[in-house]
Amino acid sequence: MGCWVPKVCRTGSGAALLKDAATAERIVETVVKAVRIPVTVKVRAGWDYSEFAAPELAQRFESAGAKMLTLHARFAKQGFEGEADWDLVRRLREAIHIPLVGNGDIRSGSDALRMFTETGCDGVMVGRAAISNPWRLAEIVAAVEGRQIPRPPSLRERIEVALQHLRWLIAFEAGVAEWDEVEAIPQPTVEDAERRACRRLRGQIPLYIKGYPGASQARARLTTCSSLEEFRDVLETFAKACPDPSPGIGAAV
Ligand SMILES: Cc1cc2nc3c(=O)[nH]c(=O)nc-3n(C[C@H](O)[C@H](O)[C@H](O)COP(=O)(O)O)c2cc1C
Repeated sequence: MGCWVPKVCRTGSGAALLKDAATAERIVETVVKAVRIPVTVKVRAGWDYSEFAAPELAQRFESAGAKMLTLHARFAKQGFEGEADWDLVRRLREAIHIPLVGNGDIRSGSDALRMFTETGCDGVMVGRAAISNPWRLAEIVAAVEGRQIPRPPSLRERIEVALQHLRWLIAFEAGVAEWDEVEAIPQPTVEDAERRACRRLRGQIPLYIKGYPGASQARARLTTCSSLEEFRDVLETFAKACPDPSPGIGAAV
């Protein structure tokens, strides 16, 4: 119940449910009765600044049997504007008994630790900072567990993972779980899946190399690629020309 996008909210779904506590509660209750696994709910703070609706909703969800709650500490009307207000996480923590996950603007291990100490939350959720930078999650987990922060990935690792990401999305678009299974699928279906996957990742693949010298020129080429082969060629050409592919240069998203 956190999606603020107008086409979703117009139908009464997503964050629009924050304005309709009775329906939201009925949905949670129905799901809890229908499944045997723990049901968790994610909400925003409320529809707009006029009402911090999350505490009342969360109490209803808790009574309906939800086992954990996540708060994206923005109001629906904000979209992604402004900063997440972590004090709302602290206030919600005081209002409910089930575990609460704090979410919004966590970009590093120190942000995650600050979210824990400032709000008393039980867990943290990371969204945008992990897009095309899954290593960021390992850094954050290490910081939270008090372990040494892993070294940043090299350019080679970034490229390998970017291509793996694309292979997995092609497999997904082709309706199978693993890249190995793609071989058994008719060629025209795979080609369609490949085109769709490439279109979907054109914006994300460039983020894997963001921050390295020459990345913006490579980005211009990556945003027009239509096949795995093309992506591989552009990335390999970029890697060969990159004057300093050492770990740590690639910037976080
Ligand atoms: C591209 C994109 C897709 C998202 N899709 C979902 C989704 O399907 N379900 C969901 O609960 N939140 C979704 N979110 C919201 C994130 O889970 C998260 O609440 C939000 O990005 C704030 O956290 P962050 O500051 O760490 O990014 C999405 C966010 C982005 C940027």
